[in-house]
Amino acid sequence: MDDCGYDLLVVGSANADLVIGVERRPAAGETVLGSDLAVHPGGKGANQAVAAARLGARTALLARVGDDAHGRLLLDAQREAGVDTAGVLVGGAPTGVALITVDPSGDNSIVVSPGANGRLTPEDVRAAEGLFLAARVVSTQLEIPLRTVSAVAASLAPGSRLVLNASPPVRLPAVVLAACDPLIVNEHEARVVTGGALGESPGEWAAALLALGPRSVVITLGAEGALVADGSGTARVPSVPVDAVDTTGAGDAFTAALAWRLGRGESLPAAAGYAARVGAAAVTGQGAQGSFPTAAEVATLPAASLS
Ligand code: RIB
Repeated sequence: MDDCGYDLLVVGSANADLVIGVERRPAAGETVLGSDLAVHPGGKGANQAVAAARLGARTALLARVGDDAHGRLLLDAQREAGVDTAGVLVGGAPTGVALITVDPSGDNSIVVSPGANGRLTPEDVRAAEGLFLAARVVSTQLEIPLRTVSAVAASLAPGSRLVLNASPPVRLPAVVLAACDPLIVNEHEARVVTGGALGESPGEWAAALLALGPRSVVITLGAEGALVADGSGTARVPSVPVDAVDTTGAGDAFTAALAWRLGRGESLPAAAGYAARVGAAAVTGQGAQGSFPTAAEVATLPAASLS
């Protein structure tokens, strides 16, 4: 695959993030007052593409946005980051929107209205065959229809690799699970993907996930780093201590960095170690894409530690 045009093809969602800072995220039936509204480019797919491009990866995005101001905001952000947007389709529904509240610890709650993301079809994927043939690695997530994700798994070029972040989580078809290398989940997502029977330790979660068919898995563990596992065993990946401002998009930056480094031939533990540093940098600023680091910025982060 040395003649690939793209280090990474991202297939996924693009949302306008409507963000309000709050002292405390509201409980059911509760109204709270928050900050002025901020509108940022977001969406798990668009975030992955920007994160990879900012690190230096030759990146393309296959997505759908509406013919509206939010769509133009998203396309501008992709082009500014250096992402090839030839695969971004326009029209069919309004651009997806994410309503996001962020509390002082940097944690968020998100509701997504998929809009145009829900109209990204298997036919759109099949029509983008040229992008798949040119991509060393393909990454995706679950803010687009599951049948479209299945079409992505079926469209991989020989020798290319699928990285799937199962977020927001659902039970996955066997054809998708079998193509994942790796499947990336947190604990909650692991529970949904496995149907609940997980066991006590991250090692048991990894075994339960591998039994479903992916070639490898990555379980993100927040401040405790991550656990990676494949047929050859498991390894812990340390976290990087930083002061969190806004965690939105950190998982997307992690996934993008992991996919890029795997495509460069790194081992799963080494690529996940680098991705943990990128994800840490991504929580240190407001919004999703605005805080994604360059490779030079990743190099200045403090040392990682196993807690
Ligand atoms: O992962 C973060 C992203 O989730 C946000 O940018 C929001 O758009 C939602 O898709």
